[in-house]
Amino acid sequence: MPKKIGIIERYAEFLPITDKTPIVSLNEGNTPLIISEALPKEFNLDFKVYYKFEGLNPTGSFKDRGMTMAVSKALEEGYKAIMCASTGNTSAAAAAYASRSGLKCFVLIPEGNIAKGKLLQAYRYGAKVIQIKGNFDDALNLVKEITDSHPVKLVNSINPYRIQGQKTAAFEIVDELGKAPDYHLIPVGNAGNITAYWMGYKEYKEHGKNKTLPKMCGFQAAGSAPIVENRIIENPETIATAIRIGNPASWDGAVNARDESGGLIEAVTDEEIKWAYRFIAERDGVFAEPASCASVAGLIKLVKRDYIKPGSTVVCTLTGSGLKDPDIALSFDDEVITVDSNKDKVLDAMNLKL
Ligand code: F0G
Repeated sequence: MPKKIGIIERYAEFLPITDKTPIVSLNEGNTPLIISEALPKEFNLDFKVYYKFEGLNPTGSFKDRGMTMAVSKALEEGYKAIMCASTGNTSAAAAAYASRSGLKCFVLIPEGNIAKGKLLQAYRYGAKVIQIKGNFDDALNLVKEITDSHPVKLVNSINPYRIQGQKTAAFEIVDELGKAPDYHLIPVGNAGNITAYWMGYKEYKEHGKNKTLPKMCGFQAAGSAPIVENRIIENPETIATAIRIGNPASWDGAVNARDESGGLIEAVTDEEIKWAYRFIAERDGVFAEPASCASVAGLIKLVKRDYIKPGSTVVCTLTGSGLKDPDIALSFDDEVITVDSNKDKVLDAMNLKL
């Protein structure tokens, strides 16, 4: 049996850790790169598309990669407590790694705007959950203020160790493909992840692991697209609550990734996100949360204007598991069938015509 290890042990030489860093890990990372069979068929594509499925991390999102680093370093620095603002996934990851390390965890979330699966994770991992009557941007400002003046470590992605951990997803992709993809498509919310991937691809190239770099293509939700519109959005809106953010902390990092790589950052509508969300689950067997599907919605937009060159390799990051958001999952016009517990009735309902 190969030893199951997390991203810190796997990529130690590329991470700012020392012999004294107490590694807090839940065997995060090593997530599958799944080739899409349905997208090329549906759109007659002349290039390959892979999903980097981050929903298979221990708490169901890519945040675990950053949190193993942030919590390990907080422990090394002697902190007793951590805190984050979150649209849900960061708080789930923070709560889990805090639980494992014995740190106290405080999470600040926008009331009524986080998916149920994420909320229940924060409670069950034992965090102190505080909901505010405000949005994510308000929550992050409060967390910055509080952690600036109290001995509590901030573990949002403005904590540089978060980005360090998250860059390992790019390493895994290069390790598996044997090269960097030509295009990397990714949802953008607070903009830490696009910043992290770009850092990862560049660092790995410096070490000779990949010879080329991908064009970084970020996608925001249309009602929450500050980078696309080049202005702070005061009241961001989208069904993809994970990326309902009007003033991203890593704004500059995202713009830099876009410009250095010759890529783009664009918006996709809620309708486009929902279409992609259903398509990849119903046709490719991959169930990712709505925000994740901004990358696939973006791909379809780019396909429609022939942006991707034939023969290319494209990777779409699917940032979180579809199980996180049961309310959205059950909000479609699914036929609900209930019959008596009787073979004929069941066969009737099956309407079997094979
Ligand atoms: N996808 C999902 C599922 C997310 O949870 C997030 C961010 C993103 C994409 C965007 O990534 O912020 O690095 O650009 N979620 C944060 C949170 C904000 O609090 O869980 P980003």
